[in-house]
Amino acid sequence: MPGLPHPFQVIGTDAGGLASLPPAAVRLLCNAEAIAAPQRLLDSLPQWWSDQQHGDRPLPQLQASDRPDALIGWLRSQNAPVVILASGDPLWFGIGRRLLQAFPAETLHFHPAPCSMQLAFARIGRPWQDATWVSLHGRSPEALASALQNRPAALAVLTDPGQGGAAPVRQILRSSGLEASYAVWVCENLGHRDERVMRLASNAPLPPDLQPLLLVLLIAEDPPLPERLPLFGLEDGVFLQHPDRPGLMTKREVRLQLLADLELPAEGVLWDLGAGTGSVGLEALRLRPRLQLL
Ligand SMILES: C[S@@+](CC[C@H](N)C(=O)[O-])C[C@H]1O[C@@H](n2cnc3c(N)ncnc32)[C@H](O)[C@@H]1O
Repeated sequence: MPGLPHPFQVIGTDAGGLASLPPAAVRLLCNAEAIAAPQRLLDSLPQWWSDQQHGDRPLPQLQASDRPDALIGWLRSQNAPVVILASGDPLWFGIGRRLLQAFPAETLHFHPAPCSMQLAFARIGRPWQDATWVSLHGRSPEALASALQNRPAALAVLTDPGQGGAAPVRQILRSSGLEASYAVWVCENLGHRDERVMRLASNAPLPPDLQPLLLVLLIAEDPPLPERLPLFGLEDGVFLQHPDRPGLMTKREVRLQLLADLELPAEGVLWDLGAGTGSVGLEALRLRPRLQLL
C-alpha cells in the first residue's frame, strides 16, 4: 500500500504480558523497528529485549500507546515494521477500533489474546455462545438497564472504576427488580496472580476490597420451583415483567403492605385495576386461592 509498506502488527497480551507471548508474536516483536505499548508494558520492554536479542540488535524505538491520538500521529510517521501491543483482544473494547478509524483494514494485522470475557466464562466453567455484553466505560449505568431489558441468558459487564465499578451494576439489577433472576459473579484481575472470582450471595454487600480491574457476569437463574416459594412476599424477579420495562412493577415492600391492608376475605372478587405485571393479584391468590381475580 503506497506510503504504508509495512502493515501494523497489533498483538494482544494476557496478564503475563511479554513473558507469555506465543512464539509467533515474539518473532514479530523481534523484527519490529518500532514498538508501541501501554506504559506498563513499555517499562518491561528493555529487559525483555535484551533477554531475547542477547544484545545483538539495538532496542527499537518505543512509544506509549495510552493516548490514542498521540499514538495515531506517531504511527503515521512510521515507515518500518511496527508492533502495537494491546491487552486481551484489541478488537474487543480495545485500541483496534480506533486504529481502524485511522488506517485501512488491510494495513492492520490483529493477533488477539483471550479477552477478559472469555477468561471470566472459563473461570466459572460456563459456555458463552449465548452471552452478550455491555461496557459501562464512560457511559451511564442506564446502558445496563437497557441491556437487561432483553433478559439475556448471560451478560458480561465491563465496569469503569471511575464510575463506581461493580456498585452501579448491583444497583441497576436491584432497581430493575431482577436481583432474584440473576447470579452475580465478580471477576477481578483475571489472569493475574491475585485473580479473584466469586459469586455474590444476593443481598450480601459488595466486598469492600474490590480491585479496580474487574468484570461482572450476570447469569440468568432458573425460576424457583413453586413449592420453594414463600407463601407471600415473593422476590420481584420471580414475576415475568414487561421485557421493555423491567422494574416497572409494584415492589415487594409495597405489595407486602398492600396485602396486609387489604385484609383479603377467603372468597370474593378481587379487581386489580391497571395490573401490569399483576404481582399484587397473583400474590393475593396465593394467600386466598378461592378468590376470583379480575
Ligand atoms: C477497555 S476494556 C478492555 C478489554 C480488553 N480488550 C479485553 O480483551 O478484555 C477494559 C475493561 O475490561 C475488563 N477487564 C480487562 N481486563 C481484565 C482482567 N484481567 N480482569 C478483569 N476484568 C478485566 C474490565 O471491566 C476493564 O474495565
